Amino acid sequence: MSDAAIHTEKITKQYDDLTAVDNIDITVEKGELFGLLGPNGAGKSTLISMLSTMLKPTSGRATVWGYDIRAEPTKVRQSIGVVFQETTLDQKLTGRENLDLHGRLYGLNRKQRSERIKEVLELVELSKWENEIVQKYSGGMMRRLEIARGLMHYPDLLFLDEPTIGLDPQTRNHIWDYIRELNVEKKITMVLTTHYMEEADRLCNRIAIIDHGRIITMGTPSELKSSLGGDIITLGLGSEADAGMLLERFGTRPEVSNISLAGSLVRITAAHGERAIPDILRTTEQLGLTIESVNLHKPTLDDVFLHYTGKGIRDEEGTPGKPKGRVRRMLRR
Ligand SMILES: Nc1ncnc2c1ncn2[C@@H]1O[C@H](COP(=O)(O)OP(=O)(O)OP(=O)(O)O)[C@@H](O)[C@H]1O
Ligand SMILES: [Mg+2]
Repeated sequence: MSDAAIHTEKITKQYDDLTAVDNIDITVEKGELFGLLGPNGAGKSTLISMLSTMLKPTSGRATVWGYDIRAEPTKVRQSIGVVFQETTLDQKLTGRENLDLHGRLYGLNRKQRSERIKEVLELVELSKWENEIVQKYSGGMMRRLEIARGLMHYPDLLFLDEPTIGLDPQTRNHIWDYIRELNVEKKITMVLTTHYMEEADRLCNRIAIIDHGRIITMGTPSELKSSLGGDIITLGLGSEADAGMLLERFGTRPEVSNISLAGSLVRITAAHGERAIPDILRTTEQLGLTIESVNLHKPTLDDVFLHYTGKGIRDEEGTPGKPKGRVRRMLRR
């Protein structure tokens, strides 16, 4: 029996010829606020569904709070709370009724339910709304109620699948505060999935970046960023040929830990970016190249994703005008 909150060994989910989750090995320690960060379709929800015993793995094994997900699913379910990606609240019931129903499903008696409902509603600041039907709630209020519901049966571990998808920045901040409070003060181990880099960066102690069902890299946000070996300098040149020329000239410099091309853009990773820039500008001038833009920044998780996968996490995200897939479904509500 593993002492970790979650331990998986080569857990895999196959749908015909698509491997949605591909031999994933992760260990989440008790007390962690762990993030699964990845673009649409990466396999995040599928992994959570298997760990929360809603979906059977094709192969591999996992323990959750020490219990085997295949052999002891009931024990697993008693240890965890789940906030699903898509809302599962009953719109026609009040907030209180939704919570009460959940408490009953978990076998809490009337007294336990009424105490716990009071407690969780206070936590997410919805006490005043307890007798309103959920249909009247805003998106952020529904999300808060779902978090409250996930906590009704005193879980040790809470799974949050895209906790702030489709919410405005202010509501998102608000929900981040609850998540932190639950983790730090109530000592609840948290596993959240997100495709928002900022969310993973700001909230999580440790992150696994996942793409096409596989873990690309794992670590604390600062470990992941410093693994790139320096600051990111992006130069826009007049043409692809010019960019190629610059790449050739700089590719072998010792201070450059990585250099790549995307059209007429050159991305350079260099220790002490601010010191490298004057040298780069001198060189481009000597070569007679025109620089159209220069940007220098400390690495972000997007740079980490780009570095390991060759594409930006945003490439697969919906743009505001044209959100994709599930994001679109969430926004329609
Ligand atoms: N029941 C299913 N049958 C077939 N394919 C599925 C099924 N459920 C998920 N998939 C596919 O598995 C892959 C992983 O999906 P999953 O929902 O786990 O991704 P995700 O990382 O949660 O994405 P999102 O950010 O959109 O929520 C996707 O390609 C998806 O289309
Ligand atoms: Mg998902």
